Amino acid sequence: MPKVLISDKLSPASVEIFKRRGIEVDFKPGLSPAELRAIIAPYDGLAVRSATKVTRELMEAAPNLKVVGRAGIGVDNVDVTTATARGVVVMNTPYGNAITTAEHAIAMMFALARQLPEASASTKAGRWEKNRFMGVELFGKTLGLIGCGNIGSIVADRAVGLHMKVVAFDPFLSEKRAVELGVEKVELNELLERADFVTLHTPLTEQTRNILSRGNIARLKQGVRIINCARGGLVDEAALYDALKSGHVAGAALDVFETEPATDSPLFGLENVVCTPHLGAATAEAQENVALQVADQMADFLLTGA
Ligand code: MLT
Repeated sequence: MPKVLISDKLSPASVEIFKRRGIEVDFKPGLSPAELRAIIAPYDGLAVRSATKVTRELMEAAPNLKVVGRAGIGVDNVDVTTATARGVVVMNTPYGNAITTAEHAIAMMFALARQLPEASASTKAGRWEKNRFMGVELFGKTLGLIGCGNIGSIVADRAVGLHMKVVAFDPFLSEKRAVELGVEKVELNELLERADFVTLHTPLTEQTRNILSRGNIARLKQGVRIINCARGGLVDEAALYDALKSGHVAGAALDVFETEPATDSPLFGLENVVCTPHLGAATAEAQENVALQVADQMADFLLTGA
């Protein structure tokens, strides 16, 4: 019987799936890297979210390991090169939390447009600052999507529903798909020049790192607002800070940071910045979906090699 270790807080439903599929499963979230290395040897599969770092050292201590399942999208916490060299399959669940992450991006866009966090804090503090918080409508504004895959296309759908004009930069987006989604496919420079809001929905790769570089931020329209619920490192944070201070960028909503956990950042001191602690996938529904999907996928692989 194959053995799987779940080393992060996955929904308990995943444990039930492994058991039902005839796989021995241990649920041990919160182990230190050394503790994990000490117990990993007998396991055929390792199921993780983002807390466990699946490093070369860990895989070297896991001679039986055949599959790593990431309950979520990004596999940044897995050393995929080492896994591939060792014949360990790395699988993710690219669809399970896409709606939730897209909804977070839309929520962040509203929060920025109407300064909701600041207005809430001010009202709770007993100040009735009705004249302080003048917002902007989303209706009729141009949303620039950098990345129009699983998550970006859901954001596009919701934004079209809000009567925004959506322009998308994505080398993998076909003209046909763009038409189906009701978005206009454009080059990055055109997006930078036209967007009132920019939202990022691309993985962090060598091609996308700093895609909103200092130079590209300078090309954005005066008064643009930026939303990043994808990955830290896509936006040059120092350049963003300067652009927010100068007023060139009117606001930014950030769920992800170059360094996480982000417990300190000059951006936190700015009023026109809304921040959340990488909550893009944090809904009950999404966590249930990704846990169930990863358990089923890993069971399929371990039981049939498919
Ligand atoms: C993902 O890659 O699935 C999301 O960023 C959520 C997460 O890392 O927890």
